[in-house]
Amino acid sequence: MRVLSGIQPSGTLHIANYFAMMKRMIEFQRDHDLFCFIVNYHALTTVYDAQALREGTLNAVLDFLALGLDPQKATFYVQGDLPEVCELTWILNNHTPVGLLERAHSYKDKIAKGFSPHNGLFSYPVLMAADILLYQADAVPVGKDQKQHLEITRDIAIKFNNAYGETFVVPEAWIDEDTAVIPGLDGQKMSKSYGNTIEIFAPEKALKKKVMSIVTDSTPVEAPKDPDKCNVFALISLFMDQSEREALAERYRAGGLGYGEVKKDLFARLWEYFRPYREKRARLAADPAEVARIMKMGQEKARNVAAPTLKNVREKVGLNY
Ligand code: TRP
Repeated sequence: MRVLSGIQPSGTLHIANYFAMMKRMIEFQRDHDLFCFIVNYHALTTVYDAQALREGTLNAVLDFLALGLDPQKATFYVQGDLPEVCELTWILNNHTPVGLLERAHSYKDKIAKGFSPHNGLFSYPVLMAADILLYQADAVPVGKDQKQHLEITRDIAIKFNNAYGETFVVPEAWIDEDTAVIPGLDGQKMSKSYGNTIEIFAPEKALKKKVMSIVTDSTPVEAPKDPDKCNVFALISLFMDQSEREALAERYRAGGLGYGEVKKDLFARLWEYFRPYREKRARLAADPAEVARIMKMGQEKARNVAAPTLKNVREKVGLNY
């Protein structure tokens, strides 16, 4: 079964990206034909700084490789290294009702946040459909926020198949319904756009400072506390098994435990958890030729799948005069 998903390179990746998406993807490579990619064309809808886009893309590549994505097993590539996806986007545009895009929540949200309503933002879901259909993905693991985009993809695939005969696999959405929202430093959902993130590979001092700044209530040390209302507890839970988590919850309820102590423990666990990955990342970052070789291999592997799909589509619509 082919499982495919992409991530935006529009900022330094943080631990919510890791636990909600990257870790899951890396696990899929064991039992599935995994396609994993960095969506730098999508990032162009909001990033207008070339150097920032280059750096964001390279950093996302390094992060994935360091965290265990195996470029031999999986097909790992940068979206923009395969411009074929833009040709497919154009073709799919002609099977995409405007009304479908006008109803897209993420488009409406971005406009509401003050982004200018340009055509790139509007047709973002068509590019995403092309990402998925070009590689004939069977399943696409995404967060709840991408559910509607997957519905649009399925709609477009079905419309095209109806018009020209079976061409695309109609992909299933694998929505991770039960992962709890991972809070950021201020207790809102951790997200780059809220500026409340904990980066996976932040330097030690910066990381410690961030962890110590997590917002808590002002319950005194002696008083009993509710673990379910505590951001530090939610975050440290990510690094604990069930029994450790329960033991800590007990200590919260008993009183006598200060938030500062839990924060120190959280920092220590974070630092240890990512230590081997940090070392691998540093080795990779020091070897740009090796990284370039890996991404070239990914491009070739991806192209082996993209090329026959696109050839077939070009013939179906009559571009092969
Ligand atoms: N829109 C997705 C997000 O922001 C990223 C993405 C682009 C994607 N193309 C994709 C995800 C294809 C899955 C499949 O999270």
